[in-house]
Amino acid sequence: MAVSLDKLVSLCKRRGFIFPGSEIYGGLANSWDYGPLGVQLKRNIEQAWWERFVGRRADMVGIDPAILMNPNVWVASGHVANFNDAQIDCKKCKHRFRADHLIQEKSPETPVEGKSLKELDTFLQELKIACPHCGTRDFTPSRIFNLLFKTNLGVLEEGQSAVYLRGELAQGMFVNFRTIYEAMRLRLPFGIAASGKVFRNEITPGNFTFRTLEFDLQEFEYFVPPADWSKWFEYWLAEMQTWTRELGLDQQKLRVREHEKDELSHYSKRTVDIEYETPMGWKELFGLAYRTDFDLKNHAEKSGKELRYVDQLTNEKFFPHVIEPTFGLTRTVLICLLNAYHEVEGGRTTTTESAKELEVVLRLPYWMAPVQVAVLPLSRKEPLMEGARKITEALGKKYRAQYDDTGSIGRRYRRQDEIGTPFCITFDFESLNDQKVTIRDRDTMKQDRVAMDQVATCLQERFSG
Ligand code: GAP
Repeated sequence: MAVSLDKLVSLCKRRGFIFPGSEIYGGLANSWDYGPLGVQLKRNIEQAWWERFVGRRADMVGIDPAILMNPNVWVASGHVANFNDAQIDCKKCKHRFRADHLIQEKSPETPVEGKSLKELDTFLQELKIACPHCGTRDFTPSRIFNLLFKTNLGVLEEGQSAVYLRGELAQGMFVNFRTIYEAMRLRLPFGIAASGKVFRNEITPGNFTFRTLEFDLQEFEYFVPPADWSKWFEYWLAEMQTWTRELGLDQQKLRVREHEKDELSHYSKRTVDIEYETPMGWKELFGLAYRTDFDLKNHAEKSGKELRYVDQLTNEKFFPHVIEPTFGLTRTVLICLLNAYHEVEGGRTTTTESAKELEVVLRLPYWMAPVQVAVLPLSRKEPLMEGARKITEALGKKYRAQYDDTGSIGRRYRRQDEIGTPFCITFDFESLNDQKVTIRDRDTMKQDRVAMDQVATCLQERFSG
């Protein structure tokens, strides 16, 4: 059954994945905090990405660039001039919207990308679009709004100067290009990768964490000889698609969409999005852009510094071209949760207490699950609790293991199913006699009796199988 976003939001709060930020003060629009399970899930994906695309590749290096950079970086990159949205306000209720979002909601086929403010206003008129909040049709004309978050540097007010919080990671890779390739003695083709927070002052329609003001991003700039760009574009598209399979995403819900000419970002000659079919429709998950030599050339020109690559064999100096695969980590977490969320009407178990209940199973890949194995004493009695604690401690050396003795065994199974725990191990009275425990599989609910000293081997087989 397809999941509604509301149900996922509720599960995420109930189980400690993600909840509204600073909620006791009424929250802050589109800010979200990650709880114990959410942060673990996010880290699991982040680390797997880093290992796969950086750690295990000889042609890739990673960096951790600063969030605050010299403001000239953002002038040279074109973000100060071009990183804009078209905003409108409802004159009656004062709510603010993105003009293109309202148009697309009413008429998904209307092309909004790259349109002028005037053209957007005409669409709003022609499509008779009303304010989603109060229903009136009285908007201010569209105006440009820059997405870069501004803040001030300096202790004294009079000495302060404006700086920007980074709006993408890419610029950290470009401005450090020469330092990195010289220090690491890199030869084309090679990539520089980063993972971290970025900030965009966006108006968002409130689709949970889909579009937020601050979000985690993972991206790399892959530098290639100019003539080879197309070959590497195809290569990275295939790699990104393989990553979607490793994330366990339903391939029927994924598609590749080519950007139209007037939709391209100011730095791109070709872009494709990998989109996922969400409850809000088809939405961008990852992007792949051919950034040409736009950034290196502009930074060289504006900084006056030499940023060309020197070919060691021919001594030729040139600006490499760039292929940029970009992966929104915040969005990956959301899509993985949506993809994993399954509901079973009436429940899967036959115990009387759960027979009529709706059950939720989060079918996350084993490597991604925040808790990989839960150890449950059948009842809150010693020595069952002690036995279960000992197993938790032993398994905790290798897996993310959780001990849980609260509530009936059926409820505990369902709680673990809801958070995506692949295996539960139950320590019962019989365990004291036969030195065996039960291993229960999240997806099949099959239960196997296994000798305690075989549990680690048995789990290893299941995790690697
Ligand atoms: N350096 C290229 C770049 O930043 P982008 O398409 O603007 O490209 C990259 O953003 C990815 O970041 C997107 O594919 C999407 O997954 C994610 N993303 C963009 N805006 C976001 C937002 N406001 N909230 C959460 N994720 C966002």
